[in-house]
Amino acid sequence: MASSIPKTMKALVAPRYCKPKDYEIREIPTPTIENPDDVLIKVHAAGIQAGDTQMAGGMAKLLGKLDFPIKMAIEGSGVVQAVGSAVTTLKPGDAVYGAVFKRPIIPLKQVGFAAEYVVAAEQFLVPKPPGLSFDEAAGLMGNAVTAYQNLRRALELAGVEDTSMAGPLLRGKKVFMPAALSGTGNIGAQMIKRTFKADRLVSTVSTAKLPLVDRLLPGVCDKVIDYTKEDVVREAGGAGAFDVVYNTQWDLPAAVPLANPRTGVIVSIASAPSPALFREVLGPANTPFWVAWVLGAAQWYYAWLLRGTAVRYEFLSGDMGRREDVEAVAAVAARGDVRPVVRTVRMADIDEVRAHCELTRVSKGGVGKLVIQVV
Ligand SMILES: NC(=O)c1ccc[n+]([C@@H]2O[C@H](COP(=O)([O-])OP(=O)(O)OC[C@H]3O[C@@H](n4cnc5c(N)ncnc54)[C@H](OP(=O)(O)O)[C@@H]3O)[C@@H](O)[C@H]2O)c1
Repeated sequence: MASSIPKTMKALVAPRYCKPKDYEIREIPTPTIENPDDVLIKVHAAGIQAGDTQMAGGMAKLLGKLDFPIKMAIEGSGVVQAVGSAVTTLKPGDAVYGAVFKRPIIPLKQVGFAAEYVVAAEQFLVPKPPGLSFDEAAGLMGNAVTAYQNLRRALELAGVEDTSMAGPLLRGKKVFMPAALSGTGNIGAQMIKRTFKADRLVSTVSTAKLPLVDRLLPGVCDKVIDYTKEDVVREAGGAGAFDVVYNTQWDLPAAVPLANPRTGVIVSIASAPSPALFREVLGPANTPFWVAWVLGAAQWYYAWLLRGTAVRYEFLSGDMGRREDVEAVAAVAARGDVRPVVRTVRMADIDEVRAHCELTRVSKGGVGKLVIQVV
């Protein structure tokens, strides 16, 4: 299999810090196996995260240099072509999917799933179940691990004694999560209801997406509110109506009133991390003092938002470095609990790729997770 691999390949890249309108398809060297745990994959599809467009846009440029051109997409799916000498769980011909990020992020190589071939370490990959298409698999792992870790943490913060998957999970609890049809939200919603068995899930979308929720996520949301027109707190059941809030949008002030002020829990993936977590995620050498200062000030603001309540709040960042969670998510996917809502574009159609990456960059208008079909 490995002998038929070309020396160069097509890849979607950001040639410099730029917006998606400047992304290009370039012919670049095909990556090769360098480490014993490397896996060479012929890519079928790549998932684009908001973070991909943020990094390419230069969000982290003050923290360290990236190698240009930036290869796009840290997650995807494909078929194994070759494996390093220490790989034990995968072999050529296996269909796989996964996402490549762990702590600290900065020394990690830019992996680039939006390309004909990619090399990723075995720890980030799992076999693709036959019931999941390559497109669906490409949009699953990153957001699913993030949701799984957030929901497990929510159980801990709520004081649930047995937080294992054999425990009570979210049974009997009411959960609010904004943006049911976002990349993170569509997966979070399915996991909240099907895997964590919440009693009630209330979510939001904008007007045009209201009729899509039941079609794309049948039986998942108990109530969906048009956040652009309606009073979300009132429509959701009033202030303090929820045991758990899984916050997926950069609007923490809107989420706070929804949590029960005495017993509520808010886990958030879209707010400022604490300086300590930031250091852990980026690496200690990549946290200038002024960044730590700004993040510290944000924590004071959040404490002020929560004043007078006993709500337990925490920002979490997904971590593919926890292999047990990656395997738990793989089992959830294999069971069919989570089938990502994806919008697909072909890599060869660069205008469409640019347009859809822009929707992801501005966080408006896209339905589901953006997946780029490579073959
Ligand atoms: N901490 C972590 O580990 C982690 C992991 C993944 C993502 N994130 C972060 O989470 C955020 C969301 O990521 P994503 O992948 O879900 O983005 P996305 O797929 O681009 O989702 C954006 C969608 O959210 C909707 N939306 C925007 N503002 C909203 C609001 N105020 N209320 C409800 N819905 C709203 C928009 O829908 P409409 O068109 O209907 O307005 C838009 O389509 C990003 O900032 C990302 O960086 C963090």
